[in-house]
Amino acid sequence: MKKVVFFGGSGLLAVNWAKKICLDYEVYLIMHKRKIQLPEVNVIHFDENFEASFNHFVLELKPDLIVNCAALTNVDLCESNPSMANKINTEWPKKLALLSKKVGAKFVHISTDHLFDGKKKIYNEGDQISPLNQYAKTKAAAEKVVLLIDENALIVRTNFYGWGLSYRKSFSDFILEGLRNKTDLQLFSDVFYSPIYIGELVRLIHLALEKKCIGIYNFVGTENISKYDFGMAISEVFDLSNENISSSLIGAKKDFVLRPKNMALSNEKLLKKLNQPILTLKEQLMSLKEDEIQKAVV
Ligand SMILES: NC(=O)c1ccc[n+]([C@@H]2O[C@H](COP(=O)([O-])OP(=O)(O)OC[C@H]3O[C@@H](n4cnc5c(N)ncnc54)[C@H](OP(=O)(O)O)[C@@H]3O)[C@@H](O)[C@H]2O)c1
Repeated sequence: MKKVVFFGGSGLLAVNWAKKICLDYEVYLIMHKRKIQLPEVNVIHFDENFEASFNHFVLELKPDLIVNCAALTNVDLCESNPSMANKINTEWPKKLALLSKKVGAKFVHISTDHLFDGKKKIYNEGDQISPLNQYAKTKAAAEKVVLLIDENALIVRTNFYGWGLSYRKSFSDFILEGLRNKTDLQLFSDVFYSPIYIGELVRLIHLALEKKCIGIYNFVGTENISKYDFGMAISEVFDLSNENISSSLIGAKKDFVLRPKNMALSNEKLLKKLNQPILTLKEQLMSLKEDEIQKAVV
């Protein structure tokens, strides 16, 4: 079986991804501060000297694939602590690209749809990036340095949802909790993006690996919608009343760290390369609904 190492192994994406592939791959989740348990998966934590122990572990294991799911994803924290953001979001990807190259592993780096100023209607991989905040700046710098070190790396620009973890809720969890508990849900009607369900994201990334994709690809859904409309779509598919959803405007939030209002990415390059259709938003939400019963209990 091929060996896959997930750096940032306790995160939302890594846990869901590991759960999906653990019967077909030998999976290793690298823990940082949090330690979890997941059946069929090797959970690795180092008692001391994290970096040296991790390097030694990878050099001994010789994995086929290293996936970087670690990041400081809290936009406010990145802004108030840019040096921590740089360390996690840029320096670690650089180290991982070097290590992957050294050990002969394919490197997959998870990036973001947050890299632009939002002035264009939809962005493709060739568009000039224009990051607005520290989170975006550090993620943009990572893409650049990773590809400088390893031109065969795959950079995944995305924005996903899925069943979260006890300690890490996803955007769809937040909406579903609000709908089910009938609490007030204010969702931005002036922020647009192209969300993808983690199940579909993982399926497409593995297809891209089979097709030996390298460089930057947008792994997103085809529909570009507002956060408000995403909430409405969830209420419809889950057959829940949308009475408690109201629309709000990010433009009215004066104390917010500057963010792009439009993060819509085009998946045209990816779909052409894969020669495969992608599930529609509605189909992806139906998969989310079907998968609730087997969500990772972590
Ligand atoms: N969530 C989204 O909707 C979204 C959207 C666009 C892009 N992305 C990108 O997708 C990737 C995965 O996001 P996610 O939401 O799954 O992340 P997440 O749930 O926030 O998890 C982040 C992971 O990184 C680990 N980590 C943090 N600092 C570390 C360090 N110094 N060394 C080693 N590990 C460290 C954390 O472990 P500890 O908690 O133990 O520190 C955790 O396992 C990220 O690159 C993110 O930028 C996410």
